[in-house]
Amino acid sequence: MGNYKRTIIITGGAGFIGSHVVRLMVNKYPDYHIINLDKLTYAGNLANLADVESKPNYTFVRADICDYEAVSRVIRDNAADGIIHLAAESHVDRSIVDPFTFARTNVMGTLTLLQSAREYWESLPGGYEGKLFYHISTDEVYGALAMTHPGGVPSPVSAHVAYGDQFFTEESKLDPHSPYSASKASSEHFVRAFHDTYGMPVIVTNCSNNYGPYQFPEKLIPLLINNIRHRRPLPVYGKGENVRDWLYVEDHACAIDTIFHHGRPAETYNIGGFNEWRNIDIVRLVIRTTDRLLGRREDEDMGLITFVTDRKGHDLRYAIDSRKLQRELGWQPSLQFEEGIVRTVRWYLDNQAWMDNVTSGDYMNYYDRMYGRR
Ligand code: NAD
Ligand code: DAU
Repeated sequence: MGNYKRTIIITGGAGFIGSHVVRLMVNKYPDYHIINLDKLTYAGNLANLADVESKPNYTFVRADICDYEAVSRVIRDNAADGIIHLAAESHVDRSIVDPFTFARTNVMGTLTLLQSAREYWESLPGGYEGKLFYHISTDEVYGALAMTHPGGVPSPVSAHVAYGDQFFTEESKLDPHSPYSASKASSEHFVRAFHDTYGMPVIVTNCSNNYGPYQFPEKLIPLLINNIRHRRPLPVYGKGENVRDWLYVEDHACAIDTIFHHGRPAETYNIGGFNEWRNIDIVRLVIRTTDRLLGRREDEDMGLITFVTDRKGHDLRYAIDSRKLQRELGWQPSLQFEEGIVRTVRWYLDNQAWMDNVTSGDYMNYYDRMYGRR
């Protein structure tokens, strides 16, 4: 295909993280052909890629990763030598309502991609030489960590605060609790099985919670910003004490680029920001930041906080130890969380048309039917 040095298929490139990975790759590597393979579910939005869609080294293909014929054709016809696999159903609350869709896309879709890539790569004279299947996974597959320090203490592994003594490392066993994390854990097992059984070069990375532009507003941070703007209630599950480790999405995209090019096949790398926050503290930070940027009195909207029924099986704490990635490949998160939140809130307020588009019509009807409380 053309005179490109490499051809990489990025699945799920029209989604939140995928669009940042596509943008980075298309702009940074004009000698690579970047193919975005995406089904365009409710979470996929080509508007996320408007700034790269006319670049000569970018191609969009609408396909379902569960469609074996279509996926095989895209891999073979384009002589793909790398796959960065992000396509997935990604929202925990939806997985609690509809687990089948998660098993179909996340498990069967991943298996379909693996099998299609295997058949093509094994048909080549050089076999797997120069090929890579890079699977994007999540810290949620490791389960939940205890909260031994509910008030927070200095972290033993970074300069930040920690709410417990333990961290997820690459050696932590997979112990998923939600249908979403169970489906992601299952897909990881298939990826490693293709390495162990067929010798396919694979890499798996497990990342913590991402935030930043283009995130679908069913996820906590964009949901808060949009609801504050409209002065709607801000639903906080349980007591808001659950802890997540947050990473700016462009830092995740940079890590993926680094690992795709320099990671060791058959390895797992954890990616995280060493940035633990209790949900309630994030809610307050986002209210203060949004109010300030909207020209309202800071704290004016604190009264919108509404404690609601907890998520079923809600994991208490996630905290990623990403020192292997820092040590071996020199990657570091570039942005402080407070700075990243200002950048993120500003982006959503500057791009209200994007938000209004994804929260209009069908989406809102679907959302109301599913959750009945927004
Ligand atoms: P997202 O929901 O924003 O986007 C998912 C994309 O996949 C969408 O463009 C959608 O159209 C596409 N897709 C869904 N089903 C498909 C199918 N059957 N065939 C082809 N395309 C399909 O997701 P995200 O938050 O960007 O997450 C991307 C990946 O990163 C996922 O694998 C997720 O598990 C993982 N991850 C996410 C986070 C996070 O905080 N968002 C953290 C760690 C890992
Ligand atoms: O840890 C990585 C994971 O992070 C990814 O694998 C998932 O794809 C991604 O969706 C995210 O999962 P979470 O469940 O942690 O993200 P979410 O934004 O849905 O919720 C963050 C926290 O906020 C969680 O403890 C639940 C809580 N929450 C969420 C929503 C949507 C609320 O309190 N209220 C809400 O309305």
